[in-house]
Amino acid sequence: MTAVLDVDAALADRSRHILLLCGTGGVGKTSLSAALAVRAADRGRRVTVMTIDPARRLATALGVDQLTDEPARVAGIDEAAGGSLDALMLDMKRTFDEAVSAALPATTAAQLFRNPFYQTLSTSFSGTQEYMAMERLAQLYRQARVENRWDLIVVDTPPSRSALDFLDGPQRLAALLDGRLMRLLTAPARGGLRLLGAGMNVAAQIVGKLIGTESLADLSAFAGVFEEVMGSFRQRAERTRATLSSERAGFIVVATPDRAALTEARFFAERLTAERLPLLGTIVNQRVRTTADLTAAEARELAESVPAGSAERAALAEQARLYELMTTQEALIRRHLAPGQPVREVERVDSEISDVEELRRLARVITAQDGGPRRDV
Ligand SMILES: Nc1ncnc2c1ncn2[C@@H]1O[C@H](COP(=O)(O)OP(=O)(O)O)[C@@H](O)[C@H]1O
Ligand SMILES: [Mg+2]
Repeated sequence: MTAVLDVDAALADRSRHILLLCGTGGVGKTSLSAALAVRAADRGRRVTVMTIDPARRLATALGVDQLTDEPARVAGIDEAAGGSLDALMLDMKRTFDEAVSAALPATTAAQLFRNPFYQTLSTSFSGTQEYMAMERLAQLYRQARVENRWDLIVVDTPPSRSALDFLDGPQRLAALLDGRLMRLLTAPARGGLRLLGAGMNVAAQIVGKLIGTESLADLSAFAGVFEEVMGSFRQRAERTRATLSSERAGFIVVATPDRAALTEARFFAERLTAERLPLLGTIVNQRVRTTADLTAAEARELAESVPAGSAERAALAEQARLYELMTTQEALIRRHLAPGQPVREVERVDSEISDVEELRRLARVITAQDGGPRRDV
């Protein structure tokens, strides 16, 4: 027996101030974050949602298509219950720059901004976006408390290949930038690259981008200053981590009903549990559901009795296909998700999300009390 994840209860819990949606790319994190933020706001929470690279129409719906990463009020929320919705899109470079400005004297910061290594790191290292998502979350959380502006921050996570990157990104960046590795990189190029053994392919990634295009002088100037910045970054990341480990936060893992996403979701849920991060449950998004009350076998049998090439026959064939897909998804969900873990299955919706009303509709699908398309077979 699988427990159902009660999403409305999670949104209504006023002791929870941060809700994070994690999962592999393309499963629906950004859409669901926005939909849940709309619902929480309609129901009286003062919400800000941090989205990361939203699809264009979704960005337009939220009013975050301008180039700013400051939270801005979203129109169309029912504010009768006292709620409101702000939205922003993470700008990792700007977040990085601001964190540097806060940590260094202005002239040193200005030097760093001109450094090509800093420019590469702040825009194209794969751990940076994850780190900056954490950093921006810390800023918003502080702002929420100081200004009493929001009581719920909904956090979409970066579109990484692996859901685990969100937790590992900051550490990878920190490891890359710690003094030891920097000294390695600034060592004569002859031995430098060879020293980057098996465990250091992350570093190799950035080295590949850097060496050959920039000078070692720039690199060592960068390394000297950056160590200072890292100290303050690390401290803040540790505080954020402590907040995320408390009951003030809650993680929802998002997957689609396919083997890869479900496996990743299970892995991620186990990781959260092992690290004592508050896991609320899993949403299996984009579930297929057939409306007709026919099994695949019944639909096929019926198809035999109607003329070949007819529309009716095509419809019955489609019904058989959907039924089989639905059944396969059901089996995959049962096989891959940990028993006893709260799950919510969310149907695939037809319309592309391009306004607040559609987000509201998606939220109703997410929170529908019938338990979604799960059937007992
Ligand atoms: N329940 C759903 N039904 C139909 N389409 C969906 C659903 N959830 C997400 N999508 C679509 O799937 C695509 C990926 O969604 P997105 O939210 O960008 O995923 P992620 O942020 O995890 O990469 C988008 O085109 C989005 O509109
Ligand atoms: Mg996304």
